[in-house]
Amino acid sequence: MTASIIDGKEFAARVRAKVAEHVTALKEQHGVTPGLAVVLVGEDPASQVYVRSKGKQTVEVGMASFEHKLNADTSEADLLDLIAKLNADPQVHGILVQLPLPDHLDSDLVINAIDPAKDVDGFHISNVGMLGTGQKSMVPCTPLGCLMMLRDHHGSLSGMNAVVVGRSNIVGKPMAQLLLGDSCTVTIAHSRSKDLPAICQGADILVAAVGRPEMIPGDWVRPGATVIDVGINRIERDGKTRLVGDVHFDSAAQVAGAITPVPGGVGPMTIACLLANTVTAACRAHG
Ligand code: GUN
Repeated sequence: MTASIIDGKEFAARVRAKVAEHVTALKEQHGVTPGLAVVLVGEDPASQVYVRSKGKQTVEVGMASFEHKLNADTSEADLLDLIAKLNADPQVHGILVQLPLPDHLDSDLVINAIDPAKDVDGFHISNVGMLGTGQKSMVPCTPLGCLMMLRDHHGSLSGMNAVVVGRSNIVGKPMAQLLLGDSCTVTIAHSRSKDLPAICQGADILVAAVGRPEMIPGDWVRPGATVIDVGINRIERDGKTRLVGDVHFDSAAQVAGAITPVPGGVGPMTIACLLANTVTAACRAHG
């Protein structure tokens, strides 16, 4: 069997087009331009790339982008002061503090200082709690993008066995909550799980979010399963830098029914969902 490819790049373009329509409607009907503030502390090169990309795509869908670049030695008090200002700013509907933060800053404290209604990352403890109890909340962008692709591919996910490999607060845990919300039978596995291959082999839906290059080979994949690869790992191969996922794509694609590639799978969906969350926040504030 050769898997069909779930094209996240194309899907993300459709999501952005929908977002742009909502932005136009908000402008015309309510005189409101949705705005996203992105805060970057320090000079982490990967974070700089993400933040640039977020700013560019925000503007492309017609929203206002506010970038705040702070020095790596910014104090917690100064960062909290900026967040308080953004919370109070009516032009700002979404606030994202790029992670990881430098070590001297307490990420939980900083994230929980964001107004939950503007927390477009869905990381605030109140949004985490609402997601866990099935209430309407801001949903973290990467798992939301995965869920959208799965729903698009399968229609209903009800009753399917879903295995999420990875237990991060950003992807693994919210992904499991979302799949449970769609009536999957959910297993969260991780690097310490006993007999990981057997757990993965039981999955109708296998979500890999461990951050280890090509850790999941094709023989861990159940024939016909849908594989969602969240990993974005930079490796050196044949003297070149390449991006690979957490799944060994070539072997998994021989077995799976459908699979997301890296790059061009989950990655583009993350920023598209960030834009969708920002327009949702603006609609809730003004719509
Ligand atoms: N760093 C890596 N992924 C993310 C994300 O989704 N949001 C934020 N704020 N930081 C990140």
